Amino acid sequence: MMNNKQSTERCAVVTGANKGIGFETVRQLGASGVTVVLTARNEKRGTEARSLLHGLGLSNVLYHQLDVQDLQSIQALANFIQTQFGKLDILVNNAGASGVIVDEDGLRALNIDPQSWLSGKATNLVQGVMKTTNDSAKECIDTNYYGVKNVTRALLPLLERSPSGARIVNVSSLRGELWRIPNKQIRKELGDLQSLSEEKIDGFVEKFLHDLRNHELEVNGWSKMLPAYSVSKAMLNAYTRVLAKTYPKMCINCVHPGYVNTDINWHTGTMTLEEGAQGSVMLALLPEGSPSGCYFDRTQVAEF
Ligand SMILES: NC(=O)c1ccc[n+]([C@@H]2O[C@H](COP(=O)([O-])OP(=O)(O)OC[C@H]3O[C@@H](n4cnc5c(N)ncnc54)[C@H](OP(=O)(O)O)[C@@H]3O)[C@@H](O)[C@H]2O)c1
Repeated sequence: MMNNKQSTERCAVVTGANKGIGFETVRQLGASGVTVVLTARNEKRGTEARSLLHGLGLSNVLYHQLDVQDLQSIQALANFIQTQFGKLDILVNNAGASGVIVDEDGLRALNIDPQSWLSGKATNLVQGVMKTTNDSAKECIDTNYYGVKNVTRALLPLLERSPSGARIVNVSSLRGELWRIPNKQIRKELGDLQSLSEEKIDGFVEKFLHDLRNHELEVNGWSKMLPAYSVSKAMLNAYTRVLAKTYPKMCINCVHPGYVNTDINWHTGTMTLEEGAQGSVMLALLPEGSPSGCYFDRTQVAEF
């Protein structure tokens, strides 16, 4: 039997929240009165982050361990939410990995300007300082795509119990926008919501990993810039649309947070964490009847 507090308070889970955009998303959601479970794969980093937020007066922030690549860890989180709240109102799938091994000094020496990063002009420049290996790509896909799917699947029964329709926010990237994929057929199929399914999207992911192993990325028209990361986010966007179709009572969207100064881009980003978390927070707090199955560039609806 739920007590009154349990039934009226809104609760959220944010993944990868010990630092960066995830940490700031927890701070902003907590400040707006939501009870937030800050999750992190590393207990020390996670509990330190929670302490920082408690220091800011946000006693409504809890910590729970979560490694999105680990099914047992995911199940332990689901059990915790079940016991603690009996439902979940907001899930922000924020944890992410870049999929490359970087020579950071070499990257800094290139002194690439933000515009060249964003437009794709820097693609050839960075090839010498960024390597995609089979392992780095797998870690990226397992975190940014399969990690999101596994966390979401485990929490869906709790999200379905949210009284006013749950919100799911998948933190994506402009790297996943369809126009950036050189292969026209992949672009077309990924953009066709009618015929999209989870199985079909998984198939694209496995095809990408196969092409990577066989040194056939370029010839098969995958992005040259951050290939694994770009694929993981394009597939995450497609998955978001399929999920939104399956769960029409929820608002399920994906968002590019902006080009934000964090570890994941080796601090090449230009926006502050406050700016970077705005999209996620807005989508987490969408009022009833809001859009679902959409892609947002920060706080504005954009083309997939
Ligand atoms: N910064 C940007 O300009 C930008 C642009 C587009 C999209 N994004 C997206 O924004 C999201 C947040 O990134 P950020 O910029 O804030 O980078 P960040 O500061 O590097 O944060 C990434 C977070 O993900 C966590 N993480 C990685 N693998 C994990 C796993 N297996 N299980 C649980 N947590 C894991 C990291 O934990 P550890 O500390 O333990 O490594 C960290 O907390 C990512 O999805 C990223 O792709 C960022």
